[in-house]
Amino acid sequence: MTEKKSSLPIVQVIKKMLTLKNLDDAIASSQKGGLEKTLGVWDLIILGVGAIIGSGIFAIVGIAAAGSPDGSSPGAGPALAISMVIAAIACVFSALCYSEFATMIPVAGGAYAYTFATLGEFAAWIIGWILMLEYAIGFIAVACAWTNHFLQFIKGFSSVLPAWFVNPPLWLVNDYRSAVSAYQSMGVDYHSAIPHFAGIPFCINLPAIIMIAIITAILVKGTKDSAKMAGIMVAVKLGVIALFVLTGMFYIRPENWTPFAPNGFEGVFMGAFIIFFAYIGFDALATAAEECKNPQRDLPIGILGSLVVTTIVYVLVALVLTGMQPTSGTAIPEGLFKAPMAFAMTAVHQNWIAGLISIGSLAGLTSVLLVMHMAATRVLYAMSRDHFIPSVFQKLHPKFNTPHILTITVGVVGILGTLILDLNVAASLCNFGTFTSFIIVCVAILILRKVDPDRPRPFKVPFCPWFPLAGIACCGGLMIFSMIVAKGNTAKLSTEMFIVWIIMGALIYATYGYGKNRKVEKLAEEKIAIENEKVEYSTK
Ligand code: ALA
Repeated sequence: MTEKKSSLPIVQVIKKMLTLKNLDDAIASSQKGGLEKTLGVWDLIILGVGAIIGSGIFAIVGIAAAGSPDGSSPGAGPALAISMVIAAIACVFSALCYSEFATMIPVAGGAYAYTFATLGEFAAWIIGWILMLEYAIGFIAVACAWTNHFLQFIKGFSSVLPAWFVNPPLWLVNDYRSAVSAYQSMGVDYHSAIPHFAGIPFCINLPAIIMIAIITAILVKGTKDSAKMAGIMVAVKLGVIALFVLTGMFYIRPENWTPFAPNGFEGVFMGAFIIFFAYIGFDALATAAEECKNPQRDLPIGILGSLVVTTIVYVLVALVLTGMQPTSGTAIPEGLFKAPMAFAMTAVHQNWIAGLISIGSLAGLTSVLLVMHMAATRVLYAMSRDHFIPSVFQKLHPKFNTPHILTITVGVVGILGTLILDLNVAASLCNFGTFTSFIIVCVAILILRKVDPDRPRPFKVPFCPWFPLAGIACCGGLMIFSMIVAKGNTAKLSTEMFIVWIIMGALIYATYGYGKNRKVEKLAEEKIAIENEKVEYSTK
């Protein structure tokens, strides 16, 4: 029987845009893939902490505490510890929703896969596109933070390394906007300081670019030992953070804790928005659902456990850092914005510890870079399987068996991104993307509870619908608050870029994804018709 078609083409188009992916098919096809189930609860917590702790705590924490140097956002001051807890609460509601989904639909793809099953084709494309903000643009932010830590690290060797290497020209370690603002703040004419080729200013963030190229090469070659590598890096970064807290607490000057919240609620909530970046990553665990030994029990513990560990670590760092360094009133030194923990140790002449912290930060940032690049590639791979992007991206490397074209493309996009984005713009764009994806996951939980109440749910979000609603309110509230409160170029630029990103996504779907999916549908219908004809013919 043929489906009765509506006469209005627009209704047809909307219906197609709302096409849902069948959940049982998705689960069955993921089981066919036969990924090895090797991850236990501790592996998950290690992977989670490996993905979460990075540039947020090693770099962005300075801006969250002292406000951004261009004055576009107020700092939380010592109340940063409270901002940390607020950001963690915003994450917990979404983490619970992620846990319910991950145990109910243990397939790769995370929020993208959940959206396809609940909100349909267009929403899935948009959420996949937004996840690129989280993973690919977040990747750029972490690469920029990597540069800052690398520069801080080599400063420790100024007596043995050549001066041009220890203090490279600003146009070689920054994007154009940051280089201009750094030259201006030094009172240097940036027109003459930045070299020009054919009239185009030449500014590149060389350390970030080299690091992206290395990470891309590692991922093309494959990451067989990635869990082992992540374990070592997690141990190193937790070790240096413990060293910071245990040494730094002896240098706390309680007068630095007053005023506790120099910019009141505005500072505290803006701090929560900015430091939210430091918690991003636990959602990447949900994408590993297919590889868990016992996802029903271990995934919720892994997701929530890594959030709890991280929150405790972050609150301790916030208290010690703001106790060691003034975060309001006086002119804030640049080092506090770039590599705050190492800077605070240098300021109390603990140069060895500062050096160790720089090494630990570099290890920590490298592990986050690996996870973010992998997550971006994984989501794009799933999107290419669903015909949203050309199938050439699904090609696997003949020797390494990795999606090399996709991996290299993400690397190239990262390198291009470092030419126009700095750490703060990229991190804030990444926050917008992540808030949006968390909100959609909470909405999707509410929808699925209504439309598919009988599906087995090994883990259920408690107090539904209140917890998912609280997740929507917290994430939406912080996002809107930041758009209202933040002033200045960085905030304006990231808000505008977020809107442009969504419009670009909608246009790409309209000009490619929608048509391609219809073609695939038509081919599938034709194939079924031919099969039916064959059956009919053979039974005659
Ligand atoms: N949470 C990750 C970081 O802080 C994104 O680098």
